[in-house]
Amino acid sequence: MNADNLTLVRHPLIQHKLTILRNRETSTAQFRQVFREIAFVLGCEATRDLALGEVEIETPLERGNFPYLEGKKLCFISILRAGNGFLDGLLDLVPSARVGHVGIERDEATLQPRTYYFKTPDKLGEREVILLDPMLATGGTAIEAASALKKAGARRMKFMCLVAAPEGVAAFTEAHPDIPIIAAALDRQLNEKGYIVPGLGDAGDRIYGTKG
Ligand code: URA
Repeated sequence: MNADNLTLVRHPLIQHKLTILRNRETSTAQFRQVFREIAFVLGCEATRDLALGEVEIETPLERGNFPYLEGKKLCFISILRAGNGFLDGLLDLVPSARVGHVGIERDEATLQPRTYYFKTPDKLGEREVILLDPMLATGGTAIEAASALKKAGARRMKFMCLVAAPEGVAAFTEAHPDIPIIAAALDRQLNEKGYIVPGLGDAGDRIYGTKG
């Protein structure tokens, strides 16, 4: 595994909030709220190298040049459905960002991941793309989504998740060595059903309350 591609964000607030998300006793309402909060803090890390220009403004005391983000080039791409859990928090952080959605499913004939939905903002090549899926498990879905985005013109991309498995990091890094991975935790392994352990369960079910 090329560990250089993986940034683990060890901020205490992130680690605390991730423990709440892992806890099976956490309600759907609290899960959504805490996901929103953790997305905001992880988003700060994912955007730390955004290009800054300068703008001339007047404070109440004097005129001067001050740092200002260049353009509105950020684009969040959610991998359906669990990637949507990141959007509220990230849009709290960058309200002007553009948003796209990618749906990936397993082709029952080939057993390979296949893109069934793809809607992204124009001019992907000019944007900083942050691809979102809370769980990097086998990596198959994220690899397919990143490939589809590259085909559509994306050039600068990061992948953001809550929890990564070593297997997923290795597979994703091999397929897309140019895409940094930002995660709150690197867990032990995948189990025989493809779940990350200790993990937090099925992220989609936890966000939407579709089980239990
Ligand atoms: N997807 C999930 O939602 N959870 C896992 O543990 C693995 C994949």
